[in-house]
Amino acid sequence: MIKHDKRIDALISECCGEVLADIGCDHGYVAVGAVLSGRVKRAVAIDISAKSLEKTRLLSEQEGVSDRVRCLCGNGFAPLDDEADVAVIAGMGGVEIISVLDAAKKLPARLVLCPHQNAYELRKRLNGKFDIVKDYTVCAAGKFYPVIVLGEGESFYAEDEFFYGKDMPRGDDYAAMLAARRATLEERFSTHRVPDGKLRAEYEEVTLRCSKLKI
Ligand SMILES: C[S@@+](CC[C@H](N)C(=O)[O-])C[C@H]1O[C@@H](n2cnc3c(N)ncnc32)[C@H](O)[C@@H]1O
Repeated sequence: MIKHDKRIDALISECCGEVLADIGCDHGYVAVGAVLSGRVKRAVAIDISAKSLEKTRLLSEQEGVSDRVRCLCGNGFAPLDDEADVAVIAGMGGVEIISVLDAAKKLPARLVLCPHQNAYELRKRLNGKFDIVKDYTVCAAGKFYPVIVLGEGESFYAEDEFFYGKDMPRGDDYAAMLAARRATLEERFSTHRVPDGKLRAEYEEVTLRCSKLKI
């Protein structure tokens, strides 16, 4: 049994359906883990880098599921001829994830996104275009990651949810992330004035959210 960190476990736990598309699969932990756990029957693992894709191919052989994990080299959803019910796009920046979504001819009904940066830009793009099923935070190896689960439909972020999401479902990692980010920004602003623009907006969101949670 492969031991994963909390981020990979969270991504696998959000997969359900017959076929998963793991876009930017790299090591293949999500595609192989989702098949091994029975959360999906099979997976299509896609990576733009042949070298990265090879890691998924090797892992799927090692774990005895190479007949259920199809490895395809290419950009985003382009190589996918199969119908997938769920797709994971994780470990890329929010702006790259937007490009992958925008270039897709057709998207699976359920999307699981985990941007490593620029989550603000991603949430702005998703707002009103999908049903926001979940948006929560997981902490792995001392770093905080958003996990955003989308369905078909239309729902919206509140004005103070674009940087750090909805904390839905609620979890302890969200409060820890807000406290850590507030401390970082306050240390910075103790020597520099609070600038106008995006950093000020982020600071306002963090302080407002902290006060709502009484932290
Ligand atoms: C940091 S790894 C993330 C691996 C895994 N998804 C995770 O979250 O741990 C990012 C992977 O995405 C791949 N990638 C980047 N842009 C891509 C694109 N447009 N289409 C497919 N794969 C892409 C990279 O080659 C790399 O293997």
